Amino acid sequence: MLPFRSRPQLPSMTSPTTPCFAVLGQPIAHSLSPRIHRLFGAQCGIALDYRAIELAPDALAARMAELHAEGLAGANVTLPLKELAARECVALAEAARLSGAVNTLIRHERGWLGDNTDGAGLVADLRRLGVRLADARVLLVGAGGAARGAVPALFDAGIGSLTVANRTAARAAALAHDLQSCGDIATCGFEALGDAGRFDLILNATSAARSGHALALPATLPAPDASAYDLSYGTSAEPFLAWATSAGIARRADGLGMLVEQAAEAFHRWHGVRPETGAVPAQLRAQPQ
Ligand code: ATR
Repeated sequence: MLPFRSRPQLPSMTSPTTPCFAVLGQPIAHSLSPRIHRLFGAQCGIALDYRAIELAPDALAARMAELHAEGLAGANVTLPLKELAARECVALAEAARLSGAVNTLIRHERGWLGDNTDGAGLVADLRRLGVRLADARVLLVGAGGAARGAVPALFDAGIGSLTVANRTAARAAALAHDLQSCGDIATCGFEALGDAGRFDLILNATSAARSGHALALPATLPAPDASAYDLSYGTSAEPFLAWATSAGIARRADGLGMLVEQAAEAFHRWHGVRPETGAVPAQLRAQPQ
């Protein structure tokens, strides 16, 4: 492997032979990924350097090529770069091809292979939480990149039906069209949600809270014993989880566990070992920084 040449804005490597990984995004300063991957490395006895690289969308293509030339061993990609990164990869794994987004870059001699572990991470966390997926009636709110990443893995997990509701109904219909090979997807706009039925699992994949907006969802959506899950974590998940509480949903969670599980899937692709994840979300919550 080529040595990873350090750049002025990056800390120097711990050792010239330690493989270096990174998370690319903007903003990136508060990313938990470096901490999660260092925890996994320590747990598995794998020496690694993992750093956060702030990158504007228009700089991504050139920087991905530079990082490959410099010997970066692998990378995670986060907002707002996932769709752009998919276009810069020499090949895409099925999950990345279907979702049109890449959150994991795997080194290949000719360039980056793109994969998407978000959906697998979501399903792994739902299982960890004891959410029943087999035959579940699932409502996915949102039809952007995060929603697209979730759909293939939900069908793989054996859900019974999927409805995608989005502020812009046409975007939900486009998602259903693009992902029809995964399964039948019913779609609607928010105004039709009152007639959409009842659901065992309600997932929020919108970015509404990140821009300070609350979703106006009907309280009639949950079936008895329903679960609610926000793919975001921390304060971004609070408005949706508050709605879930008011709608009487007892099993609620934010997406911190999904973040950990998607990282574990990426770690597995890079290192061939899947770390233990069970205690990690609690560790991160106990010490947020
Ligand atoms: P991401 O990669 O996080 O999924 P995205 O692709 O920009 O980001 O998608 C954002 C999603 O959040 C979309 O479903 C968007 O709805 P529209 O398709 O109608 O834009 C949804 N969203 C963003 N702000 C919202 C708001 N204030 N209310 C409802 N939905 C919102």
